[in-house]
Amino acid sequence: MEPRSLNPGRESQTREPGSALLSASNLRVTYGPVVAVDDLNLEVSEGSVVGLIGPNGAGKTTAIDALTGYHPLTAGRVLFKGAEITKMRPYRRARAGLGRTFQSVELFDDLTVEENLQVAADHLGIGRALGDLFLPIRGRSREGVEWALSLCDLGDVADRMPKELSAGQRKLAGVARALAQRPRLVLLDEPAAGLDTDESVELGKRLRTMPEAGVSVLIVDHDMSLVLGICDEIHVLDFGKSIAHGTPAQIRDNDDVISAYLGGERVGHVG
Ligand SMILES: Nc1ncnc2c1ncn2[C@@H]1O[C@H](COP(=O)(O)OP(=O)(O)OP(=O)(O)O)[C@@H](O)[C@H]1O
Ligand SMILES: [Mg+2]
Repeated sequence: MEPRSLNPGRESQTREPGSALLSASNLRVTYGPVVAVDDLNLEVSEGSVVGLIGPNGAGKTTAIDALTGYHPLTAGRVLFKGAEITKMRPYRRARAGLGRTFQSVELFDDLTVEENLQVAADHLGIGRALGDLFLPIRGRSREGVEWALSLCDLGDVADRMPKELSAGQRKLAGVARALAQRPRLVLLDEPAAGLDTDESVELGKRLRTMPEAGVSVLIVDHDMSLVLGICDEIHVLDFGKSIAHGTPAQIRDNDDVISAYLGGERVGHVG
């Protein structure tokens, strides 16, 4: 099933392709004495798929948490669509169009695929209702659910329970749950974890279609074939610091990345 329309309710906000949708500068995030993200600069342009990779504990999830407001910054600034969101609460960032998935969060087993998406869309609706106390609630959650199902090609399994889906479809349903809130940018934390190579390739093809439907993507994943295959540019973190930034070809051949991330193996051999 093909997406029925460009990101519903978001069309009027579309920026120039290539302009900075998300711009994070000098991010520093700490857990007590642990510096998990150290002076990170990162941009996601409108219409792009950007990768954020690095070894276990490099600070990838922490960076997503900081960008989406789930963990405070010790230093740095985040702009989204040109506006400062550095201190904005998570639900307000989500309302503004900054969506995310969580590492290792499963679907609700006792809800259908569609109900899983609806819960996410309604959850944001509650935020809208609170935030817009004296304004009409937009009530577009249904439209967002149908659009997300379509974009992830899950329309045919909308009434199924998660356990009836393939592993790849379950992962896509997790992505669709974030899309149901109609984000302009979605931050995906290891969407391919647990998938085999074929399933990961299918997921990658689907993710690569997101920008043309009006959703830019920041993806964190350990599957190098996936990240190298679908990203326009990639940032590499090691011990919280950016050690490389470039196109997939540049990252594949970067000596610092090869030694820090792979202990000397070639990047292209992983995944
Ligand atoms: N809640 C926490 N309290 C203390 N330290 C934490 C906490 N969460 C993460 N850390 C530490 O911060 C650093 C970055 O962790 P983070 O989870 O962001 O890494 P990651 O790159 O997402 O790793 P992975 O690939 O394993 O998911 C690690 O040293 C980790 O031990
Ligand atoms: Mg992580």
